[in-house]
Amino acid sequence: QQHLLGIERLAPDEITTLLDLAEDYVALNRSDDKHSEALAGLTQINMFFENSTRTQASFELAGKRLGADVMNMAMQASSVKKGETLIDTALTLNAMHPDLLVVRHPNSGAVDLLSEKVNCAVLNAGDGRHEHPTQALLDALTIRRAKGRLHRLNIAICGDVAHSRVARSNLLLLHKMENRIRLVGPPTLVPGAFAELGCEVYDSMEEGLKDVDVVMMLRLQKERMDGGFIPSEREYYHRYGLDAEKLAHAAPDAIVMHPGPMNRGVEIDGTIADDINRSVIRDQVEMGVAVRMAAMDLLARNLRERRAAEAAA
Ligand code: CP
Repeated sequence: QQHLLGIERLAPDEITTLLDLAEDYVALNRSDDKHSEALAGLTQINMFFENSTRTQASFELAGKRLGADVMNMAMQASSVKKGETLIDTALTLNAMHPDLLVVRHPNSGAVDLLSEKVNCAVLNAGDGRHEHPTQALLDALTIRRAKGRLHRLNIAICGDVAHSRVARSNLLLLHKMENRIRLVGPPTLVPGAFAELGCEVYDSMEEGLKDVDVVMMLRLQKERMDGGFIPSEREYYHRYGLDAEKLAHAAPDAIVMHPGPMNRGVEIDGTIADDINRSVIRDQVEMGVAVRMAAMDLLARNLRERRAAEAAA
């Protein structure tokens, strides 16, 4: 692959290759010497047009640990504020010869569009409601490590599926890897169209969580609700917030996941989120660095091969 724009374009064997390489980076990140030369000599530019803690920090750390020159564009202080378009901004940066562009943008499809205008590898760090591929990959690695496999698991994705790029990328990935997926939430936040992917849809947490192996909670994405129906947080927590009573319906060894940022007391009870016997939320963050290192390493190998072939032609 030339870019990492979405899970939709990845084949199951490519997902497995990436996760296997990420395992090597988990070991490296836990060692005393966290450095590799995989991106030595390459330049990585991070462009975040939307707020981020986990994704931005882990891409920066990943690039530095792989030996890249990493630049974080401060988009709030950039000429975007003077009206420069996304494409003109990208073309300007492209003229400085970056090798990897990491982009988060509020508009679905913006990162795909940008990838057509530049001649470096582009990684989608989340675009609108469309995709967040590295989140789904780090979630997959977390599940594979916790459950010992990434197939034939019963997985419930709960909450605001409709506005969530995390849900969409996870659905695509977990479906490709032959898992059984349930979507659980109020009908206003769980579009029936996802049933076409073979998911079961529930509006009751008690029924939707019955015997599942993995419970993946999602934040209410109010910033994407465009003036539509926004549930009251108290009512939402009562019916759909994950607490011990609802979790008791899942398999006894079910793991609890959340991509973050979390709203404690809205979609998840704080004690569940902090329960080290059930929650793998901190593991997800750790896997985020390793998965992003693996993704950039693989794209850089392809980039170098393409350039060598062009130079030889
Ligand atoms: N999960 C996730 O994308 O978190 P950030 O918005 O903090 O990057």
